[in-house]
Amino acid sequence: MKVSKAVFPVAGLGTRFLPVTKASPKEMLPVVDKPLIQYAVEEAVAAGINHMVFVTGRNKRAIEDHFDKAYELETELNARGREQLLQLVQDILPKHVTCSYVRQSVALGLGHAVLCAKAVVRDEPFAVILADDLIDAQVPCLEQMVEVFDRRQRSVIAVQDVPREDTASYGIIQGEPEEGEQLLRMTGIVEKPKPAQAPSTLAVVGRYVLAPTIMRHLEQVEAGSGGEIQLTDAIASLLREEMVLGYRFDGQRYDCGSKLGYLEANVMYGLKHSEVGGEFQQFLDRLAAHEGADRGR
Ligand code: UTP
Repeated sequence: MKVSKAVFPVAGLGTRFLPVTKASPKEMLPVVDKPLIQYAVEEAVAAGINHMVFVTGRNKRAIEDHFDKAYELETELNARGREQLLQLVQDILPKHVTCSYVRQSVALGLGHAVLCAKAVVRDEPFAVILADDLIDAQVPCLEQMVEVFDRRQRSVIAVQDVPREDTASYGIIQGEPEEGEQLLRMTGIVEKPKPAQAPSTLAVVGRYVLAPTIMRHLEQVEAGSGGEIQLTDAIASLLREEMVLGYRFDGQRYDCGSKLGYLEANVMYGLKHSEVGGEFQQFLDRLAAHEGADRGR
C-alpha cells in the first residue's frame, strides 16, 4: 500500500501564541517568508503525497485562501509585470495536488482532529504532519518515513531524544531495536509522563505514517490527558494489535509551537535564506561584537 494522503490538523487553539492566534491559525505564522503550513505541505509533496487533507477550526479561511487561486492578486501582479512574484504565488501548490478541508468544530484534541479526516482517508495508510514541528533535513523527514513504510508496511512514528526534564511536554515511547539504532519496534507509548515515570527519553514529534486501522482505535479511546482525545492513546491501543515502528529521523526539529523554538527557526532559516541570509549573518555578527564590547566594559 502506498501513502498518498496527508492529514494536517490545524484546528488547535494555539494559546501559547495569543494574541497573534486570536484570528488566524498558528500554522499561518511565517518562518522568514513562508507560513509553517506551506513548509509542511512542501514536505508532504516531497514524500510523494498528492492529496492534502486539512482539519480546520474556527479560523479556516486563511489556510484555504493560501492554497487557493488568488485571482485578484494574480491579475494585479500580471498587470504590473511582476512575473517572478506571480510565479511564486502560482507555485505554492503543484498542479497535481488536491486539497480537502474537513471541519473540527470543537477542539477536542489531536486524536479527535485526525478522526475527523476518516471519511476522506478511508482505508488507506496516511501521513499526519503537525506543521508547528518544523524539521530541517537534507532528505525531508516525511520522505524518510514513507521510505520506511514502503519497505515495512507498518505504522511509523517520528521520535527524537529529549532531555529527561522535558518528558512531560511529549508523548514518550518505549521500544526495542528493530533495524540498528534508527528504527525501533514500539512496546509502549505514554502521553506527557513526568520525568521520573517516563519509560525513556524518546519523544514523539509531529510526523506520523499511520495504518488506517488507527481510526477504529481513535473511535474507541476515551478523553485522556487534558480532557482531550489523544492520538497517543490510540497508538497505544493500536500497538497492542499490530507492530508500530518508532523512527529516529535525520534532521533538526524546531518546536514552532513555542515562542523560543519559533524564534530559533526564524534565525536558522533566515541565515540560509537566499535573499537575506548574507546580510542577516552580518547583522548577527555586529550584534555579537556589540555584546562582546559591552561585556568588556
Ligand atoms: P497543540 O498541542 O500544539 O495545541 O496541538 P494547540 O492548540 O495548537 O496550541 P497551544 O498548546 O494551545 O499553544 C498540536 C497540533 O494539533 C492540532 C493543532 O492545530 C496542532 O497542529 N490540534 C490540536 C487540532 O487540530 N485540534 C485539536 O483539538 C487540538
